Amino acid sequence: MSQDMETQQHWTIHIRDTDEQYSCSTDQHLLKGMLQLGRKGIPSGCHGGGCGVCKVRIVSGDVETITMSRAHVSEEEQQQGFALACRCFPRSDISLDVVGKMQKTVCKRRYGFV
Ligand code: FES
Repeated sequence: MSQDMETQQHWTIHIRDTDEQYSCSTDQHLLKGMLQLGRKGIPSGCHGGGCGVCKVRIVSGDVETITMSRAHVSEEEQQQGFALACRCFPRSDISLDVVGKMQKTVCKRRYGFV
């Protein structure tokens, strides 16, 4: 096993809306980990911070964020915990809410949206 594999840290990400959890490593963005849940409703999107489909609100925990489009997350929103999941890398266990375009599809099961 390489040293990277041995030191790779995994965090637990909790989606409050659906009460689902997934594991995400420090070098995986939150959307990539979420996609590994392998279910319908999680949009793939651009993975580049441009389309805004993966908007979430970090409720607790620490993330490292990289450049996000201000068209989708304003500075004020970012201070309130809003972020694009494809631009956030976990640095602790995370609890988040899905918001915006992703909420309807991700929360479909729980609320029975069609
Ligand atoms: S997937 Fe497009 S902004 Fe995250």
